[in-house]
Amino acid sequence: VTDDLELDVVAAIGDVRDPYPDFARKRRETPVEFARGFNGEAMCHVYAYADVAHALREADVFSSRVYAPAIGMVFGPSILQMDGVPHQRHRSLIGGAFRRSILTKWETELVVPTVHQLIDRFAARGSAELVRELTLQYPIKIISRILGIPADEHMRFARLSLDLIGIAFDPERGMRASAELKEYFARALAERRAEPQDDLISMLAHTEIDGHTLPDEEIFGFLRLLLPAGAETTYRLLGSLLLALLWHPEQLDEVRADRALVAPAIEEALRWEAPVQVVSREPLTDTELGGVKIEAGTHVSLKIGSANHDETVFDDPDSFDVHRASEHPHIAFAEGPHRCLGEHLARLETTVALNAVLDRLGDIRLDAEGGEAYVQGIPFRSPNRIPVRFAAS
Ligand code: HEM
Repeated sequence: VTDDLELDVVAAIGDVRDPYPDFARKRRETPVEFARGFNGEAMCHVYAYADVAHALREADVFSSRVYAPAIGMVFGPSILQMDGVPHQRHRSLIGGAFRRSILTKWETELVVPTVHQLIDRFAARGSAELVRELTLQYPIKIISRILGIPADEHMRFARLSLDLIGIAFDPERGMRASAELKEYFARALAERRAEPQDDLISMLAHTEIDGHTLPDEEIFGFLRLLLPAGAETTYRLLGSLLLALLWHPEQLDEVRADRALVAPAIEEALRWEAPVQVVSREPLTDTELGGVKIEAGTHVSLKIGSANHDETVFDDPDSFDVHRASEHPHIAFAEGPHRCLGEHLARLETTVALNAVLDRLGDIRLDAEGGEAYVQGIPFRSPNRIPVRFAAS
């Protein structure tokens, strides 16, 4: 299944190797640039950190309803496309699921055992391909278990999740995955209403704040969104982090020796290769960004990946440096009211996995004979492969 998945990864995200020189040129020459989209619609691309962060924070002007026609078609009405009070209400209903206190339970019961079970399968071999054998399988197992999907179905859901995000490349397949997931979740929701279990589907079925419960359509929307939101992103972060450290062995040694550097290394990987490179907004009124007028209704494409490499905010932005100190944070999890709900889970999973790799795969290094490793894709980025050798244990 994972071999198939690997092929699908490229189908879903394309093969752009290094978008950063182009982003740098855009920031210099046309930081706010107009162009026509695929369907001839007016589009505006935004490249500078200050402008991207501003638009994300000014959610009253820069609406998320832009997602409704395309992404809404796949996920159903999800939190991503909501604005204002309905968005706040929905977010407070579902947000509890990913609070730090709840994550503590998942850490010991689920996250730590899952990563060790995966590493157990190859630790004695002294070599592995970490995308196929670790990163691709790990977050999907976590989010699937949190949702309440049985373990023997996890990889089927990994495929469906990829089909969802690949909708632009293969619409028919994306829509089929969407319908299959809705059918599955509808059945699961009915079962959990009758007999609650220790999972997120049960929690959503019974959630109520101030007399408000979630309509079924919104529950399906959230559940369908969570598979790609929870798995597609985090596996990319872990892969780019591991590859960055393997490319910089002196930093890898430092992090192994001083685990206080694990957290800064993760933040630097989020900045250096933001797993989600682009988010979209639509101004509700005529407005401006960076001194450029933008008409209401224009599709505004905010380039998080470019913002995170903005040289006015980050010195020597294309280099990976676990000791980086900058006044402003990266915006890989976005900013403002739609800031990622799963950021604590993403950090937890990545911390546990990196520590496990450092503890168990002694003398880990890239395997030159395993094929060229690089980071690829737009609008999602991750390594194609991570072939490694290490001391067998
Ligand atoms: C490294 C991992 C992750 C990255 C880089 C990431 C990135 C993002 C970004 C950029 C957004 C904003 C989208 C927008 O406003 O247009 C977002 C929103 C969201 N993320 Fe994540 N995410 C990650 C992991 C997760 C995980 C693990 C989960 C859940 C388990 C999750 C759930 C969500 C949800 C539900 C939203 C929508 C929040 C809202 O609209 O209010 N994400 N994420």
